[in-house]
Amino acid sequence: MNNLVRVSTNDDVTVITIDNPPVNALSPGVPEGILAAIDQMNQDPAIKAAVVIGAGRTFVAGADIKEFGKMTSGVRSRGSLLPLLLRIEDSRKPVVMAIHGSAFGGGLELAMAGHNRVASPSAQVGQPEVNLGIIPGAGGTQRLPRLIGVAKAVEMCAGGKPVSAREAASLGLIDQLIEGDLAAGAVAFARSIAESPVSKTRDRSEKLGSAAECAAIFATARDSVRKKQRALLAPLAAIDAVEAATQLPFEEGCQTEARLFTECLFSDQSKALIHVFFSEREVAKIPDVPKETPALPVNRVAVVGSGTMGGGIAMVFVNAGIPVVLKDVDQAALEMGLNRIKRNYATSVQRGRFTQSYVDERLELIKPVLSYDAFSDVDMAVEAVFEGMAPKKTVFAELDSACRPGAILASNTSTLNIDEIAGATSRPESVLGTHFFSPANVMRLLEIVRGKKTSKEVIATCMQMSKKLGKIGVLVGNCRGFVGNRMFGPYRREAQFLVEEGADVAAVDEALVEFGNAMGPLATGDLAGLDVGWRIRKEYRHLEKPGVRQPFAEDRLCELGRYGQKTMKGWYQYDENRRASADPEVTTLVRKWSAEAGIPQRQISASEIVDRCIYALVNEGARILEEGYALRAADIDIIYLNGYGFPPYRGGPMWHADTVGLPKVYQRICELQLQHGELWTPAPLLKRLAEEGKTFAEYDKQQLAAA
Ligand code: 3HC
Ligand code: NAI
Repeated sequence: MNNLVRVSTNDDVTVITIDNPPVNALSPGVPEGILAAIDQMNQDPAIKAAVVIGAGRTFVAGADIKEFGKMTSGVRSRGSLLPLLLRIEDSRKPVVMAIHGSAFGGGLELAMAGHNRVASPSAQVGQPEVNLGIIPGAGGTQRLPRLIGVAKAVEMCAGGKPVSAREAASLGLIDQLIEGDLAAGAVAFARSIAESPVSKTRDRSEKLGSAAECAAIFATARDSVRKKQRALLAPLAAIDAVEAATQLPFEEGCQTEARLFTECLFSDQSKALIHVFFSEREVAKIPDVPKETPALPVNRVAVVGSGTMGGGIAMVFVNAGIPVVLKDVDQAALEMGLNRIKRNYATSVQRGRFTQSYVDERLELIKPVLSYDAFSDVDMAVEAVFEGMAPKKTVFAELDSACRPGAILASNTSTLNIDEIAGATSRPESVLGTHFFSPANVMRLLEIVRGKKTSKEVIATCMQMSKKLGKIGVLVGNCRGFVGNRMFGPYRREAQFLVEEGADVAAVDEALVEFGNAMGPLATGDLAGLDVGWRIRKEYRHLEKPGVRQPFAEDRLCELGRYGQKTMKGWYQYDENRRASADPEVTTLVRKWSAEAGIPQRQISASEIVDRCIYALVNEGARILEEGYALRAADIDIIYLNGYGFPPYRGGPMWHADTVGLPKVYQRICELQLQHGELWTPAPLLKRLAEEGKTFAEYDKQQLAAA
């Protein structure tokens, strides 16, 4: 038909194969090609039915997401898929959709425009559009409730989670599961129904339910979205669109869907979430480490230190089926570590996330040890001992002798210099940082820290490994705090300054939660332990520039033993269930300290709180980018979204700055510099881009073109 759609015949059945690698997205030409093949089939008296199937690894992953950017920027205005799908559904002869891999978004909408659907048992189907800030736009919200009922359709369209082919079959979305050869099974199925009259999904209404049933479903769904998907536009729009299916004839329902789809597509939220989709994939691309770089095997791993992080890291590996040797200094420490791992798993079993037998198998894969004897055959060792250059160097020298040549030696340090650590070994090319985030078995981010001598093979191995571990690996350079924590410093500094200038502790946190962050900066400090930063600051105090304002409140709280949740008191006070409440003592103390330091007190607005904390992130991010410690602004965004609870619908700090407009951000930072001094010196890159009227996203593109 065209080079994206192939047609062959199997006796009396036409087989239409979509061949648009890598995921058969419905790029321009694909739906048109399918339709042309169906038209041709209808004209051929020798043919009784058609099968539509995907070449390669999947059926159809949806509309081509790249097209959306072209549509919103006015480069191309692609017509809706809807009329093409209506014409497919109008085929006089049956069209059977044969699904393997995934039928997502427009892929499922295409499948529902067919008269029947068959699938491999391993396939998945879903309407994940809300994850991109949009809703199904080709009849999905109208056809899905007609096939599976309103409640499940609302769940799938507003929640975005896919369902397995087996579940889809039980819901009535798939007519037959086919074990073995899908194409052959689909052709046989098509032949078996060829003589029956075709049934169009859009003509069905038996599953749409009564008005009263529907009202209850929509009310509950809206309530749940407002609670769980705070501030998101698309899930509510998806519910509105499904509601239209229950109240309006099909064509009018489709018009409502189209209007809501367009509103969502042109929203800042959708642009941000589409940026996140592509950036998550972009971070895997490292200009000087091409994807053909050979990766080393990682089949056996050792973890040194069974504390908070080491225990979590061991769980990450065994959850991926990789056996772990777990070492600590003495039996007591090791047992404490193992017990923590067991407690964590027990909670997962209680919550229904894992079965007991799954957990038992994972625990079998952990071999607790006190010596390095079992390290000789591991492919990689991850160190997670106390933070401090001296203990890290000792451990790395020991690992260098204990592990075979070529084995990767990784440090989980959050602040220390990887090159200095590598210097304690005879193999700096095999040394790098793998900075997991706490809790390691939950947080998706893995900062992979490249040392001066780290080899490309080692980087490629860890980037690929991160995917196997269910993590998103982002390559960063070796500077203090790497990317995430280096930016977190100024962010938390401003939060403290604001309290020292008169803002309430809760007001600072609330303003940032209202902005969309998962937690406020002060509550986050209490969770992680205020003493962690206090110890680090004491170690680096000699590097502070005299005369430059430094926050003092957290250090003073630590001096009073207020370390946060672990001591039941920090910025807040905590009850035995770790529920926080405001502590008037903190307010009194900070006001007193501020008066002693001569800091004038004033009313501070929520918008000033947000500007100061968020622009502190952006300004430091711009420096990191220009200094080359992050490869792209998009990498910084992915770090903040996956490691620091930044709201995905704002796309990450750098994308957010682009959305506000860099000239505006730059101007505000200049104002803050006038008010607060040199800590607010604008990053040179930010200044340059603002003056040139460019964005960080454009800077990324320029850098990519130059690479
Ligand atoms: N459009 C354009 N490109 C797509 C795409 C899509 N729908 N889906 C995936 N890709 C690209 C990726 O960007 C990636 O490109 P790259 O290699 O250049 O980085 C490549 O295909 C492979 O993708 P993954 O790395 O994600 O491959 P996986 O095998 O890990 O995952 C997948 C495959 C599960 C299909 C996953 O890609 C996915 O979830 N895709 C998006 C599904 C989706 O959101 N569909 C809805 C689209 S919106 C829509 O259909 C609107 C409609 O209602 C009108
Ligand atoms: P922790 O204090 O909970 O655990 C450290 C463990 O290492 C203890 O069990 C200790 O007995 C053991 N240990 C010390 N020296 C050892 C040695 N020579 N051989 C074997 N075991 C030894 O510390 P935590 O919090 O797990 O931190 C570990 C590392 O992870 C640090 O570098 C820290 O900066 C980093 N990190 C910590 C995060 C956190 O939130 N806790 C987040 C990200 C990184």
